[in-house]
Amino acid sequence: MITLEGKVALVTGGSRGIGAACCRLLAQAGCDVAINYRRRTDAALAVAAEVERAGRRALPVGADVIDPMRVEAMVGRVVEELGGIDLLINNAGIWTDGSIETLTDADWARMIGVNLSGVFHLCRSVVPAMKRRGGGAIVNVVSTAGQRGEAHHGHYAASKGGAIALTKSLAVELAPHGIRVNAVAPGWIRTDMTEPFLTPERIDESLKEPIPLGRPGEPEDVAGPVVFLCSPLARHVTGATLNVNGGAVLT
Ligand SMILES: NC(=O)c1ccc[n+]([C@@H]2O[C@H](COP(=O)([O-])OP(=O)(O)OC[C@H]3O[C@@H](n4cnc5c(N)ncnc54)[C@H](OP(=O)(O)O)[C@@H]3O)[C@@H](O)[C@H]2O)c1
Repeated sequence: MITLEGKVALVTGGSRGIGAACCRLLAQAGCDVAINYRRRTDAALAVAAEVERAGRRALPVGADVIDPMRVEAMVGRVVEELGGIDLLINNAGIWTDGSIETLTDADWARMIGVNLSGVFHLCRSVVPAMKRRGGGAIVNVVSTAGQRGEAHHGHYAASKGGAIALTKSLAVELAPHGIRVNAVAPGWIRTDMTEPFLTPERIDESLKEPIPLGRPGEPEDVAGPVVFLCSPLARHVTGATLNVNGGAVLT
């Protein structure tokens, strides 16, 4: 039922994990997809090949989202080569740990720079292109950490909590322009980011029990809700943060 035929999507951090699953599902729904990444060109090219196999155009675009000038240039390139941007998935992110007494200024600046300023840079650069198309949809990939906090990851939780506040602010600001802005908040999802932590022993011992649906998620479990929020089925939804955590955190 969901068709995004003729739409152009830009997915940040589209080379791996949740972002790559979003690229694949968006292509299946009919989108041409620009796949942003930071360093792993090989991974971005592999996702691009999958998008093309689905019969859609793919554009791998390297840029660190922390850098506003590179973001602006990347958005310009996507608009020029794919004809516009209708959908923006702000997914690029990092997750490191550090207690309050050990976090350095550099740790803090990098985390906020990628996970929060990155979202700001992308939205600022993409919104004029969406306005020219008469509307669009933005989905920010946040985290349960941004909803409830996360001990020993305060900088991460603050970055994601900031992204939730930005989601709500832009939802109201951009509604008159036909641009919807929502977020998905994943819990534990099996990706490169979490791979060292999601060992079978750890899942059995301490992770399964607090997840009512009984397992950590897969990247595809997040891509579905992202594509739903992009689609006309979600046409009256804006400013929402959708829980995608197996029931572990209910807000
Ligand atoms: N996995 C989880 O359990 C989980 C839970 C809650 C929220 N999340 C959020 O979901 C998002 C995706 O996480 P994931 O687990 O899929 O991560 P991942 O497997 O580590 O992949 C991260 C992706 O982001 C890209 N990236 C990282 N820093 C970037 C930067 N500065 N500029 C541009 N691209 C950058 C990477 O590009 P390269 O390939 O070039 O390195 C890669 O494509 C993140 O925002 C994360 O915080 C994840």
